[in-house]
Parts: sequence; C-alpha cells; structure tokens
Amino acid sequence: MAKDRDTQLLQVRSIYEDMENLQRAADLLAGGGLVAFPTETVYGLGANALDEEAVAGIFKAKGRPQDNPLIVHVCSLDMISPLVAKVPEAAIRLAGAFWPGPLTMIFPKSGAVPAAVSGGLDTVAIRFPAHMVARELIRRADLPIAAPSANLSGSPSPTTAQHCIHDLMGRVDAIVDSGSCGVGLESTVISLTGETPRVLRPGGVTVEQLREVLGEVEVDPAVCAPLAKGAAAASPGMKYRHYAPRARVVLLEGDRRAFAEYVNSRKGEGVCALCFEEDLPGLEVPAVPYGAERDSASQASRLFAALRRVDEQGAKTAYAHCPGKTGVGLAVYNRLLRAAAFEVVRL
Ligand code: TXA
Ligand code: MG
Repeated sequence: MAKDRDTQLLQVRSIYEDMENLQRAADLLAGGGLVAFPTETVYGLGANALDEEAVAGIFKAKGRPQDNPLIVHVCSLDMISPLVAKVPEAAIRLAGAFWPGPLTMIFPKSGAVPAAVSGGLDTVAIRFPAHMVARELIRRADLPIAAPSANLSGSPSPTTAQHCIHDLMGRVDAIVDSGSCGVGLESTVISLTGETPRVLRPGGVTVEQLREVLGEVEVDPAVCAPLAKGAAAASPGMKYRHYAPRARVVLLEGDRRAFAEYVNSRKGEGVCALCFEEDLPGLEVPAVPYGAERDSASQASRLFAALRRVDEQGAKTAYAHCPGKTGVGLAVYNRLLRAAAFEVVRL
C-alpha cells in the first residue's frame, strides 16, 4: 500500500472555531479528496459518495476488500431521497427517534449510488451523524459522504485523531482533529429491506431501543456467532476478522474471581489482561482497563483505544474479561468476539 498523499492535519475544535480548517476539509472533499473526520461513534474516512474515483481511493487507503460496502453520510433528510429507491415506513419512525445519531439504515438503493459504494449490492447504507463537526463538514461540502471507519482494514476503529494519524498518515489528504469520539463504537446497522427489520451490527442505539419504536426486530445470527462456512453475510463486513490487535485475544466469561485466577495462573512473558477497572486490584499481570464492569457506555467509549494499547505494550496474548450482553453491552461483546476471532473460554 503506497503512501502517496501529503496529509494535512486540520484542528477543528468546534464548528464555531477553526472555520478555515473546516472549510479546507470540505473543499478537499468536494475536489475528490480523502478526509478523515470525527463522528460521535468513531472517526470516518470520507470521500464524495457520487465520485467513483474518490471512493476507489478509500478502499486503496484502507486496504479494504472491494465487496465490503460503505455507509453514506448525510446532514439532512432531504439528501436521502436521491440515494434510495424507496423509504420504508419503519425508516421514518426510526429517523424520528434516533437521527441524527449512531444509527445506520439499509435502504433499497437508487441508480445514483455507484456500485463501488454498495459493494455491488442493490442496497445502500445511510447514516445521519449527530457530531456537529461531521454535519457541518458535509453541509459545506454539499455532498453525500461515503465513509468507513478511518483505520487500516482489520485494525481497531479510530476514536481519536492520533489513531487516524497512526494508520493513515501519507495515505489521505487530510485528518480533521476534534478530540475523542463519545460513543466509541461504530453505529448500529439495521436493514429495512426484508420483511422484519434486522440488526446487522449492534452499536450505540440498542436493540431494546429499536424494539420500543418498531416492535419486532431481529438480530442477525452473525452478531454473536461466526458465519457458517459458505453462508452469505447479510453485512459483508461481518465476514472479516475485525478490530484485531496484533496480540492474540481470548475472551473469558466468568466472575471477577474466576477471571483473576485464570489470568494470574498464566502470568508470564507477553501475557496481559484487558479488564474492568474493578479487576485491577486482583491481577498480577500487566493490565489495560476498558471501563467499569456495570457501565457498558464506558466500555464502548474505551474499548478500541484499549485494544491499541495492548499492542503498544507488546503483549502476545490478551485475556479479555467478557462484558454484559444487553444494551450497549451487546455491541461491546460483538466487537470483542471479533477481536478474539471467536476464541471464548467459559470459566
Ligand atoms: O459509526 C459508523 O458507522 C462509522 C462512522 C464513520 O460513521 N462507520 C463505519 O463504517 O463503521 P464501516 O465501513 O467501518 O462499517 C460499515 C458496515 C460494514 O460492516 C458493512 O459491511 C456494512 O456496514 N454495510 C454497509 N453497506 C451495507 C449494505 N448495503 N448492506 C449491508 N451491510 C452494509
Ligand atoms: Mg470499520
């Protein structure tokens, strides 16, 4: 993968400050460039969704498989109709409840969406982010913006500009720095193209919240289990090993005492714990905490940075304490399962 671009670092503290930098980033997008920018979930790597060449640049910069489709980001509901063939009734209800916010909806697509964006599918993923800098950037570029997470394909998603710099320096035209992302995990992805709405990826908007608005909502089996051999992925992104540090990650399901006993009995070169704050006093190995045991939101916002720290410490094996699986916890669990390549030990 060539490092063939001069990357500008553009600090944008808010939409009321650093407006020149914000405009420069918007101009780069409008001119077909690649710009990493903050959202409330994770940083995205944006390009004009209607420009095939610009979109091809995203796949090259990330080393992303061509069949993994991109989410198109908008800053108003008006921007959606040219991109979709139909707006299901459920979408209107979800938009009213959760947009702008960390929810992506899959619609049947219109002819305006290039095949490169949709990975050759006849659907398109759309998200209306809540982050003010993201929205103002899209508004100033005056274009729908295709944006996957701004990490190298396979690495943990970036929740700070430093993570983007680490992965993408020299590969993109600009990185907009607005500090760290609040939610910390990618948006919830829900498909509205089948009979029953189906969650393809859990995220900041929980399955419980979606059911409150829509009634019946299915959760795709691939959320919590490996895809059966030969089965087609509803969301192509679920096929790939994801969010993985270089270290081997093993997910341990059990209480605080069982976790500490298991990990301490394996202490030695390159062993570390990826744990809750409350686990720290009982551990005899280097430990990277990723939030409080009963606080899924804190786990979500810290997980990806913690996975990167595991590698910075040079760990060979990280034993991760399994989070709760309800609410935002389901999203934390889903990302850790993939980081662990589904290696789970029940204590
Ligand atoms: O929070 C987020 O969603 C972040 C920020 C930047 O907005 N973006 C993000 O994009 O996570 P990415 O590319 O890392 O993940 C998009 C996921 C992938 O799993 C992809 O396969 C799925 O959404 N996806 C995109 N378009 C789809 C479609 N038409 N049908 C099914 N799945 C789709
Ligand atoms: Mg991603």
